[in-house]
Amino acid sequence: MTDASIEAALGKLDLDAKARLLAGRDLWSLPALPEIGLKSLVMSDGPIGVRGVRWTADDPSVALPSPTALAATWDPGLARRAGTLLAQEARRKGVHVLLAPTVNLHRSPLGGRHFECYSEDPYLTGEIGTGYVRGVQSGGVGTTVKHFVANDAETERFTVDTIVGPRALRELYLAPFEAIVKNAHPWGIMTAYNQVNGTTMTEHRYLVNEVLRGEWGFDGVNVSDWTAARSTVGGIEGGLDIAMPGPKTVYGAELAAAVRAGEVEEAVVDDAVRNVLRLAARVGVLEGAEPAVTELPAAIDGDALAREIARRSFVLVRNENRTLPISATEVRTVALIGAAARDARVLGGGSATVFPEHVLSPLDGLTAALPEGAVTYAVGAYPSDELAVAGEKFELRAVCRDAAGRVIGEGSLPSGQVQWTGDDLPEGVTLETLRSIEIKGTFVPRESGEHAFGTRGLGAFTLTVGGEVLWWEGVQEQGNEADPFEAFFGAPAERGRVALTAGEPVELSLAHPVNKAPGTPLSAIMFSLTHLGPQRAADELIAEAAEAARAAATAVVVVATTDRVESEGFDRRDLKLPGRQDDLVRAVAAANPNTVVVVNSGSPVELPWRDDVAAVLLSWFPGQEGGAALADVLLGAEEPGGRLPTTWPAAFEDAPVTEVTPTDGQLHYTEGVFIGHRAWDRAGTAPAYPFGHGLGYTTWEYESLEATPTTATVQVRNTGTRAGRETVQVYLAPQADSVERPARWLAGFAQVEAGPGESAEVEIPLRRRAFEIWDEGESGWVFVPGAYEVRAGRSLLDGRLSATLDARG
Ligand code: BGC
Repeated sequence: MTDASIEAALGKLDLDAKARLLAGRDLWSLPALPEIGLKSLVMSDGPIGVRGVRWTADDPSVALPSPTALAATWDPGLARRAGTLLAQEARRKGVHVLLAPTVNLHRSPLGGRHFECYSEDPYLTGEIGTGYVRGVQSGGVGTTVKHFVANDAETERFTVDTIVGPRALRELYLAPFEAIVKNAHPWGIMTAYNQVNGTTMTEHRYLVNEVLRGEWGFDGVNVSDWTAARSTVGGIEGGLDIAMPGPKTVYGAELAAAVRAGEVEEAVVDDAVRNVLRLAARVGVLEGAEPAVTELPAAIDGDALAREIARRSFVLVRNENRTLPISATEVRTVALIGAAARDARVLGGGSATVFPEHVLSPLDGLTAALPEGAVTYAVGAYPSDELAVAGEKFELRAVCRDAAGRVIGEGSLPSGQVQWTGDDLPEGVTLETLRSIEIKGTFVPRESGEHAFGTRGLGAFTLTVGGEVLWWEGVQEQGNEADPFEAFFGAPAERGRVALTAGEPVELSLAHPVNKAPGTPLSAIMFSLTHLGPQRAADELIAEAAEAARAAATAVVVVATTDRVESEGFDRRDLKLPGRQDDLVRAVAAANPNTVVVVNSGSPVELPWRDDVAAVLLSWFPGQEGGAALADVLLGAEEPGGRLPTTWPAAFEDAPVTEVTPTDGQLHYTEGVFIGHRAWDRAGTAPAYPFGHGLGYTTWEYESLEATPTTATVQVRNTGTRAGRETVQVYLAPQADSVERPARWLAGFAQVEAGPGESAEVEIPLRRRAFEIWDEGESGWVFVPGAYEVRAGRSLLDGRLSATLDARG
């Protein structure tokens, strides 16, 4: 029925309409074609929420924990529920396709979008991604699994040529895509900006047409990453169906012209149109075709799910003398310390950004859960001495004016950042009429002292605080050729300082002339008002925090990265915590033996003091309910459920891959299949915390393991005093190898729940693929027979039981 509707619809379209359908109508959607009953298909980012087509807090979204956190749950079922919630969010916002999940690998901890990917392990990535895609699509919303492929770092991301051998490509980087395509049948895939072995991914016939569609049977749509489509003929012949965003792209009129000039066969265009119509049918925007989902899943409470995922993702990597949970029978006074304890960093930067309706910080969470007066707060250390986009305590709006200075519209602002595209302007405003934007509003300082204000972005600015003009810069307006990413990610500039009093509101204004030609792709208007509160002397802040720690039963220090450290658009330079946070932890730990450190980062950071504190809990970017989940876990209402999806190095230099900067435009994956735990094992260096590691609040005994070439059956017993959940991990280690392989790798995992004293048994399938390698000579998968040790345990390095099996293929 659907195929017939698709063919019928295709048959009614002329070449121009077909070519038009394959190009974005604007930043987020495709054109509607009323002549065939096709509505406009709308897409939106991204992995942890559904932003919708507007970049504004007026249209809030549930913000789930970061993808690294979701992977740390090691629970594809939970990932599926996350996906189902996101489908519900998408439907609420009129979105048909979610630009997610991101399933590139943690090749190097420097990767700027590390927080947005799941794991260093392709199997775990594929399992979590499969759950996620199944969930989203069960709600009738499409996914685009991204970024296909080998887009594992950000430096020179638009052009870098990733040079990677066939074996590493198949066994590592393609593997999650393959698993998701085969197991979850995604309705879309996003081809990346980068090249692979000399061919740009939006034109990669071999990987798209032969591997993805041919070998794996993918029948979804292939959409370019935003502005990644570079050639009309190369794109369409390379299997690229949709060029985003529009309207100016290499498809549309240019594609129709290429067909007329005989450069492209119309049948090739038809194939792409069929893929788009199939997607449209699936999501229910093609009249006459039955959507893939006719009965929607039950409604999900987004706040409750965000909180559940957060506590299930927290990884307790150290817990000396059972410091956690903070016992209910003892004095529960907590000295909460750290800038991020109050201004929580709940998500990573870039296109994954959404605007949650509310955010619960650790301070909110602990204050709500403990009796009045039990929690004290001290900043301790600023993670950054740079100005940041105006946020907390600012109430701002954007006033738009025309050439004559008349107000033509107003937009609300979630923060001091204006980020508008031509088709997403406040009501009544067009690029043709818009000549200036003024960010206007009030700020209520939290602290008295000298406050710095500034700007980020290109062009002219007039900055006024409390009636005083702090800065006037009459430079030429920014041209359309300016790189929008510079304004988005660049360094903020300080423009002046004003002495303010805590609690006394002050008026402010930042005016910026605008002159943009409509229609240019990504011709976004981006600039920000930035601010930095009074910076007290670092030593004084640390001493004050240590004093507070001394006075409390437990000290909880929240350390964090900033969005100038972890974000899309650039890679990290090192793994250090910014500012004086390491000194802060040392001083607090010296003052209070019950010091718990909460690490609020999306990816690994160095924790040089880790053996000198009582407990370390990794909370990732925990999403909007992070603070409530943190209180659940610290106070023992719930146990932390996470296990590391990625090895945490003790020092950056120990990481297996430390280079993400291309040389002459190329980035060589010379390490082959040795990334993550596969590489750590080989190097023989001890990481800070190994892959799979994570403690709960009970203890487990591994009682028995039986292994056949297809299954490992493991029995575990909860030997503690409270109910718990265990993630049973199975690793395979070849005993004698005829081929070069890692010493061992993750072969399977499963979770069990058991009450105190109870035992539980779990069967973990051993996939054939776990015994196979990609044979470069044969160009195919080859089963490697022989003796394998099967090891069941709590992490890569904490094997509890082992058995040997003879695998024959
Ligand atoms: C990112 C994609 C994202 C797209 C749309 C690109 O810059 O790489 O992940 O989906 O923008 O926001």
